[in-house]
Amino acid sequence: MEKTITTTNKNKVAVSVKKLKLLDNIQFIYELSLARLELQSFNPELKVMNDFREFEILNLNNLEELKTRLAYFKTVNGDYSDYYYLQKFNQTKSVNQFLTHWIYPYKGKFHPQMIRALLNIIKIKRGETILDPFVGSGTAALEAQLLGINSIGIDISLLCVLISKVKTESIDVIDEIIKYKDFYLHRKGKNGSEDKRVQNFYKVAEMMAHSDTSRRGQNFESSYLHDSLKMLASVEDYEKAKKQFKLKLGKTEIIHGDVRKIHLKEESIDGIITSPPYSIALNYVANDAHSLQALGYNLDQIKEDFIGVRGTGLDRFKLYEEDMKKVYDKMFNVLKKGKYCVIIIGNVTFQGQEIDTAQNVINYCEKIGFKTIKKMEKIIYGLYNVMQKEYILIFQK
Ligand SMILES: C[S@@+](CC[C@H](N)C(=O)[O-])C[C@H]1O[C@@H](n2cnc3c(N)ncnc32)[C@H](O)[C@@H]1O
Repeated sequence: MEKTITTTNKNKVAVSVKKLKLLDNIQFIYELSLARLELQSFNPELKVMNDFREFEILNLNNLEELKTRLAYFKTVNGDYSDYYYLQKFNQTKSVNQFLTHWIYPYKGKFHPQMIRALLNIIKIKRGETILDPFVGSGTAALEAQLLGINSIGIDISLLCVLISKVKTESIDVIDEIIKYKDFYLHRKGKNGSEDKRVQNFYKVAEMMAHSDTSRRGQNFESSYLHDSLKMLASVEDYEKAKKQFKLKLGKTEIIHGDVRKIHLKEESIDGIITSPPYSIALNYVANDAHSLQALGYNLDQIKEDFIGVRGTGLDRFKLYEEDMKKVYDKMFNVLKKGKYCVIIIGNVTFQGQEIDTAQNVINYCEKIGFKTIKKMEKIIYGLYNVMQKEYILIFQK
């Protein structure tokens, strides 16, 4: 659309105005804020229209980039965005659990769309490397991979490491996964695959069946079969999407271990996006006890390495704070100068008192040299309208 505007020296000039529309499922205030911020990171000249559901931008020449990168937009100048299409490669009923995101019912997953928007907001380019020191079920790793961004993910839980690897690596061995289907699903044939990635795929299907059995009382064998086939369909979806959108996937490295003890090169990382464990609120060991035991873990032993699970009462809280300070120090150390670190964290109620965890993080991070760029409230309503309040904290080194 062409519009005429009057410039300060009274000349009339023609500028072209491009319209962008939000995806239909955007409903929370924090999502609108993130949408605006991600757009601003590409082009600062924008106007909000139609009760916040539409934006207008002036004189833009990177339309293609916007179409491929944006997270919260359905259309860019009349064309559908890549993310609008990607979300349709979905074997579940949940809009955001597309491609392999849905694999394993892990509690406390990031919202994938939020991660894509944050990658845009902190201006991570294709080929650069991000770190998630608490990678959990691998949401950040997969979203980075889709944008051609390399990532390093760390987790102390072997279950999380397996899930994250399967979500991001299965696409590379899809033919082998299919080839050995009869062996893993029906015990036909003598040997399974020698490829670790194929073994991991079926291992995670097994872990999902353990979870279905212990949480929902379902039959193990039929769950295993059902989960494996649905996982396979998702990996096939991923392959189709990769072809259709000519995606050049980022490289992913998932490391098993205690982040406090893992060595990463100083100033080697272009961005950090993470949500720390908050086991006072959510006990990751108890939560996945069935699967961790099936992987051969002694639950009492691993508790010592999981941040937030050690100790009881006030002691547990103090240990958590000490452990996390070491992680923040490490995050500061590995990040390149001028780059950004995003921490998503919720306040918790401990012995009847609400603790302002977010402010504690800000205080410590500023002490070690980070500059606070943004503290955004992320309020969502879950099942039975229970309010959950978290903060998105953006720091710059
Ligand atoms: C909030 S979850 C991360 C969830 C993740 N953002 C996602 O989308 O699935 C925190 C993770 O920290 C991990 N964790 C706890 N202690 C750790 C440690 N010492 N080193 C590395 N990871 C640890 C837990 O296993 C858990 O997966």
